[in-house]
Amino acid sequence: MATILHVCTSCRPAENPGDDPGDTAARPGQDMLAWLSAAIPADAQISLHGANCLSVCKRPCTIAVSAPGKWSYVIGNLEPARDGAALLDYLAQYAAAADGVTPLRQRPAPIRAGIIARLPPAPAQQG
Ligand code: FES
Repeated sequence: MATILHVCTSCRPAENPGDDPGDTAARPGQDMLAWLSAAIPADAQISLHGANCLSVCKRPCTIAVSAPGKWSYVIGNLEPARDGAALLDYLAQYAAAADGVTPLRQRPAPIRAGIIARLPPAPAQQG
């Protein structure tokens, strides 16, 4: 079962919060998406997507991790150069956990510090 990873590509860094659509200042999530696209092995069973906004706009970059039947997590304050490897480690832990819940103490530090919310699995569909 593939892990679904969404990366918000819209957040602006705190030092450049402007919303001028003509402003081409870097968005951290775009860097993270590019970093992950290059770093995730082809056989990793991760479905990677950009997202327009995850409603955590003050904590770029922000990601959401989910999978059918598993808890979902929203995680912020990640930087690809600093936290990308930790995120890959966490994704492997998440994939191995039947319900998506990984032991708190085993989560990489940037993930522990960055978790904003978790959401329960969607109920199984009837019929
Ligand atoms: S713009 Fe990135 S979470 Fe809202």
